[in-house]
Amino acid sequence: MRLLVVSDPHWAGPGEQARRGYESRAIPHPLQRALAAAWRRGFWLADPLAHNDKLDRILALNPDPDLVVANGDYSVDSAFVGLSDDACCDSAERCLASLRAAYGERLLAVPGDHELGKHSLFGGVGGPRFESWRRLGSRLSIPAWWWRDIGRHRLIGVPSTLVGLPAFEAELLPDEAPAWWAERRRVLPEIAEAVDSAGPDRRIVLFCHDPTALPFLEAIPEIRARLPQWEATIIGHLHSPAIARLARTLAGMPAIQGLGSSVRRYSNALHRARAWEPFRVRLCPSPTGAQALKDGGWLTAEWDPESTAPITWRRHRLPW
Ligand SMILES: [Fe+2]
Repeated sequence: MRLLVVSDPHWAGPGEQARRGYESRAIPHPLQRALAAAWRRGFWLADPLAHNDKLDRILALNPDPDLVVANGDYSVDSAFVGLSDDACCDSAERCLASLRAAYGERLLAVPGDHELGKHSLFGGVGGPRFESWRRLGSRLSIPAWWWRDIGRHRLIGVPSTLVGLPAFEAELLPDEAPAWWAERRRVLPEIAEAVDSAGPDRRIVLFCHDPTALPFLEAIPEIRARLPQWEATIIGHLHSPAIARLARTLAGMPAIQGLGSSVRRYSNALHRARAWEPFRVRLCPSPTGAQALKDGGWLTAEWDPESTAPITWRRHRLPW
């Protein structure tokens, strides 16, 4: 079994391409605007609209895997409200069309946080929108969650924003919050059942875009009981292996209040990051990685479906 994992392609369609400067326009304070620009240019990604070629290159380099998991963040989310924004939805549709043209039924897709929306880093603009959750199925044909058995392994894909909804509570529209919570009450027991029904002889491989969700999964008794059977949890979201290493180093740090919802959400996630440990977290980098390091690429896995021997994971670098 040869599995390909791609994550965070952040593809930009024409509607999003026309929004150059969208991030700084969403930050009212000049000092915060300068800080955000320095972070982008100096480390993260100078031009988020300039990397559509990377996904095509990864597809060309991986013509014939047995199975493919796309681990979320298909658009740039330049309106910060996920798929409920037509331009973002168009980007994500085009991105998934490329993946489906290349791999057809072999593709399994997981939603990222940017499919659903979240506050911009400094401006506090946007947030999750329930229409984005609806469009996940109606426009992108991505199920809320899924599982598939490959021999002795059970692969499970989960929606990290819905699982980690308590971390996004402050970003929800008040009149939409009940619908979000109802959806979470519906989906979480289904995921717990999928983990529990794997039985004692299967190894579990989880695909979860944002590791912020993991402490909330650990709190579910049926899932906690199966953690000794965990083979790996493939996350995206952090884009760069260097950021993933830093997150591990900072695990347990105190949560930071008073610097806005994004800083509070990220620092809270790091505060609880020791819970990632039993999930055996492994990052699938974004195609670009960080601008400063150019450490992006993709992930592959190989295993014998008839055996429970450990999976061989390999990270591949995409030079640019
Ligand atoms: Fe991302």
